Amino acid sequence: MSRREDGKRRAAEAALAHVGDESVIGVGSGSTVDYFIDCLTTIKPRLDGVAAASRVSEERLRRNGIPVVDLNSAGPLPLYVDGADEATRNRHLVKGGGGALTREKVMAAASRRFLCIVDESKLVDVLGAFPLPVEVIPMARSFVARSLTALGGRCEWRENFVTDNGNHVLDVRGLDLLDPAPVEDRLNQIPGIVCNGLFVRRLPELLLVGTDS
Ligand code: 5RP
Repeated sequence: MSRREDGKRRAAEAALAHVGDESVIGVGSGSTVDYFIDCLTTIKPRLDGVAAASRVSEERLRRNGIPVVDLNSAGPLPLYVDGADEATRNRHLVKGGGGALTREKVMAAASRRFLCIVDESKLVDVLGAFPLPVEVIPMARSFVARSLTALGGRCEWRENFVTDNGNHVLDVRGLDLLDPAPVEDRLNQIPGIVCNGLFVRRLPELLLVGTDS
């Protein structure tokens, strides 16, 4: 197993220790979360259900024999575990590399505790080396791209990709993310943007970084 994969696995295993007596929890999406879903099999008997932020995560849960619950019927989640594409030490995140950012942001907002799991390669001093994913409704894609260009961004349409919500994704480079909270707010105001991949207003309470040691 590569160093990065090992870091993901270690972070996922460490996250399991943070699952207490909750019988319903939420999980995000991505390869680090896949490790966490696999870890959940060890506590399967005490889980009534797990809400997931993507269809891929739902399928993995089902394959592992873990009951999937819909967020609409789950109520407020006590715990949500998800990965990230970039994370700073003060827990600012870029997410959405897998295109599940909108559901992930909803899940994080709907949860009392948000625990983020990453391998060491995701730790950065300043966000922005990873292109910022922005989910847009399809008819607004060009308008949103022009709006983001006016803010200094360079947009790339993630072609041949449709989100679980039937939308498109623009990957945006070049935005100044030194102070990311106002940028998250600004992007939220552009009509046609469903969600942006900055997770700053709703921070994870805990960031677990899987390292060699
Ligand atoms: C998906 C996400 C993932 O959490 C992010 O892309 C990290 O994925 P991985 O664990 O595979 O590196 O935001 O939309």
